[in-house]
Amino acid sequence: MTIRGQLFIATGIAAILLSTSVAAADVDASAAKRLARKESCLRCHAVNKKKEGPAYESIAYKYKGHPEAVDKLIDHITSGEKVKLSDGHEENHEIVKTKDPGQIRNLIEWILSR
Ligand code: HEC
Repeated sequence: MTIRGQLFIATGIAAILLSTSVAAADVDASAAKRLARKESCLRCHAVNKKKEGPAYESIAYKYKGHPEAVDKLIDHITSGEKVKLSDGHEENHEIVKTKDPGQIRNLIEWILSR
């Protein structure tokens, strides 16, 4: 392989490492988990198994590569959209009680990075 080729690959790897570490550093996981517990999100959601609501892992999977997901999901947990529960009845989705936009965004970014 040529030096140029190797350089190209090395730059690519560096860019990937850089972008993932920046994304991970942005999320305060322990604050997100504390908020999820406090807001009783975990009553209906778990990270890796379906409960009344979808697993956070599958939500992250569903929205992978959708840059608008953060805003959409912030709206989801602040507006009380109708959701269908497993027994078939519909209710308004839980609305977060905190009014702190940074905390809300952090929670959504944590969910999306599962
Ligand atoms: C009473 C049960 C219940 C509680 C409590 C609850 N959820 Fe949900 N959640 C659901 C259900 C059911 C869905 C599935 C909605 C659908 O796919 O139609 C859902 C969907 C979601 C989604 C994905 C929406 C989408 O567009 O795919 C997110 C994100 C979410 N919940 C976050 C939260 C957060 C954060 C909390 C805590 C503030 C929370 N949920 C509390 C039941 C709940």
